[in-house]
Amino acid sequence: MATNENARQDLPYSLSTLSVHADDSLNRHTDVAPPIHLSTTFRYSDDPELLVPINDGEFGPLTAPVYSRLSSPTSTRIETILSSLLHGHALTYSSGLSAFHALLTFLNPKVVAIGGGYHGCHGVLDLHSKLSGCKKVDLFDDAAWDEAKLGKGDLVHVESPINPTGEAVNIVELVEKSRKRGAYVSVDATFAPPPLMEPFKLGADIIMHSGTKYLGGHSDLLCGVLVTKNTEWWEKMFVERIFLGSVMGGLEGWLAIRSLRTLELRVLRQSGNAEKLVRWIHDLVTNGEGSDAEAARKVVAEVKHASLQTDQKWVKEQLPNGFGPVFVISMKSRVLARTLPSKLRLFHHATSLGGVESLIEWRKMSDATVDDRVLRVSIGVENWEDLRDDMLYAFQQLATL
Ligand SMILES: Cc1ncc(COP(=O)(O)O)c(C=O)c1O
Repeated sequence: MATNENARQDLPYSLSTLSVHADDSLNRHTDVAPPIHLSTTFRYSDDPELLVPINDGEFGPLTAPVYSRLSSPTSTRIETILSSLLHGHALTYSSGLSAFHALLTFLNPKVVAIGGGYHGCHGVLDLHSKLSGCKKVDLFDDAAWDEAKLGKGDLVHVESPINPTGEAVNIVELVEKSRKRGAYVSVDATFAPPPLMEPFKLGADIIMHSGTKYLGGHSDLLCGVLVTKNTEWWEKMFVERIFLGSVMGGLEGWLAIRSLRTLELRVLRQSGNAEKLVRWIHDLVTNGEGSDAEAARKVVAEVKHASLQTDQKWVKEQLPNGFGPVFVISMKSRVLARTLPSKLRLFHHATSLGGVESLIEWRKMSDATVDDRVLRVSIGVENWEDLRDDMLYAFQQLATL
């Protein structure tokens, strides 16, 4: 059975140290920054005695790279780091959606329970259903679970915090329900990367990330990640990935390694910034006084974010180290939502999230299913007071329209 070099190592260091050092054992050269490997193919040993031919369909231990669709020095390095940071065995894919596709292919469930969340995952599931006949049921509809006979070997897929609002979904509760039926639980933790949430501690069987977001962190690479604690699953998914062919390219992998070095710094800053901005908008709109509050109330209906789920005790337990840096501002009308991004100077009007630069998106631009007054905000690493002042200026401009 195939194994990779990236076996998980439980090094006794904290997240920030592991981000920089988890791959030290792979240093083969004197370079401090990892070298860039672009080769798709790698020479076999010059010693004929060391040549182990492939068995029919069986991959022997991959002690050295052979072909980059199997593994490469760069994918091994990034998977070594991710395995440490995410506390399991990690595999990387060419995008978040290809990781979800790999997950569905591997588990091949007859029924999948899934909530709202990122519409792209529904697209992948629909493709999978076309081929396999698998049924999709609502994550929160017990009667639908019963009717579809969701049970052993099926999948409960939980996105938390959820796209686009950044509100938390109770993973522990869903894990308990799923366990009783023998179903597996995958958690799409894209909106709460380390150090914000630890899905394995909450009972997840598989963690998924769109690494395009916070793991990449600079809006310049596509990446997907699956992590499991089950070595057998990891080995099988490694082999399946060879045939799915959805691996990261060498340059993207290298960029991702560069990004992971600063993961904790970026994410904590982004999370803190978002919490402060959400609190400021919420207070301004609900009980603020003066002309700033009046302007905000004229244009903003409400703000949504996990930090505002204060009546649910489990939210803080699920996100002990901070909330995700994405939230939603619901405007009072479609035209206000469509116009606000054009009044901001420090937010790019663009889709996606997780980068060092703040983004805002009139969500109707890319998701037909959401209300047309919704703006999704992804907070970057800028100074939060500059972001606040920019936002206030935009509210004031809109209030005069
Ligand atoms: C929660 C979530 N999961 C998965 C994806 C898909 O990731 P990718 O764009 O890397 O395929 C996204 C993309 O926005 C997302 O927000």
